Amino acid sequence: MIFLGIESSCDETGVALVETQVSGSPRLLSHALFSQIDMHQAYGGVVPELASRDHIKRVIPLAKEVLQNAQLSLEQVDVVAYTRGPGLAGALLVGAGVACALGASLKKPVLGVHHLEGHLLSPFLSDDPPEFPFVALLVSGGHTQLMRVTSVGHYEILGETVDDAAGEAFDKSAKLMGLGYPGGPALSKCAEQGNPTAFKLPRPLLHSGDLDFSFAGLKTSVLTQVNKLGSSLHDPQTTHKADLAASTEAAIVDVLLKKSLAALKATGLRRMVVAGGVGANRLLRLQLNQACHKAGVRAHYPELHLCTDNGAMIAMAAAMRVQAGQQVPQFDYSFDVKPRWPLSSF
Ligand code: KG4
Ligand code: ZN
Repeated sequence: MIFLGIESSCDETGVALVETQVSGSPRLLSHALFSQIDMHQAYGGVVPELASRDHIKRVIPLAKEVLQNAQLSLEQVDVVAYTRGPGLAGALLVGAGVACALGASLKKPVLGVHHLEGHLLSPFLSDDPPEFPFVALLVSGGHTQLMRVTSVGHYEILGETVDDAAGEAFDKSAKLMGLGYPGGPALSKCAEQGNPTAFKLPRPLLHSGDLDFSFAGLKTSVLTQVNKLGSSLHDPQTTHKADLAASTEAAIVDVLLKKSLAALKATGLRRMVVAGGVGANRLLRLQLNQACHKAGVRAHYPELHLCTDNGAMIAMAAAMRVQAGQQVPQFDYSFDVKPRWPLSSF
């Protein structure tokens, strides 16, 4: 079966084709992505209305591109999958509308996918896919969760953020330091030249005894340092900015690392999956790999270019859900989107 996946929940339009196989994980046939980063950069963050309008422009050309690359025709698609939520309402409506229109015109069933499940299952697109069960650290722009993943559709939340997400902590701190959008990669790049111990920043909830996270206090501490440093933060004669970036990154990664290890210990599981945009962070991968190696745990990640939003993870999640008997594609082309949609209620 061939699945066409459409992702449009935020600032990237992604389309992909995935094919199920007789045995093993479904296989990625082709995928294409258009990032709106350049467009939103001028505003320092995502402008929802501009995002929706741009998705409308991109989605059909991207669909044509993936079909051409896979040498398939639209009629050969068996299921049209789309991100149903969570995300920006207007942006989600574009993907859902196009998917359902395609389904109706082709007389093929459609399937709405949970964006976070897409991230969670994205490591199955890699050459070294994980095996169930595993602990998942889901770290995106809007979510930070530790989960016990038993099989497709069976996700138990072990802990989550009580305020900001890890990606948000990167983005907001980067903004305070005058680094660009999106903040995660910008802060991480700046941090490469800095000293991670230069500034003492808090590691919230590190010793809370549970698996929850809190990043709002860290952002406040970064603001305090930014105010203290004043214009010297931007002085190229000093290393203040790189030092503050490195200290911020170290604090976020430290908490993610320690809590992930605690989750592995609590569950007794020997496999770890990291997914979502922050999963692209080099320091997080490095430190987690080292710690997992020491603990005899296998760590899996999506390929770097599939860490942030993309259509491949949506097509993959749809294919895996259908294969696992978790969801049946529907010939009902009325749709709603779910801008707020906890994975636990899925
Ligand atoms: O998963 P994602 O693409 O979108 C959401 O579903 O939210 O994640 C985007 C988040 C942003 O906060 C971005 O700053 C962060 O992932 N991010 C990174 C890196 N690349 C993306 N954070 C830290 N280091 C990176 N290399
Ligand atoms: Zn995402």
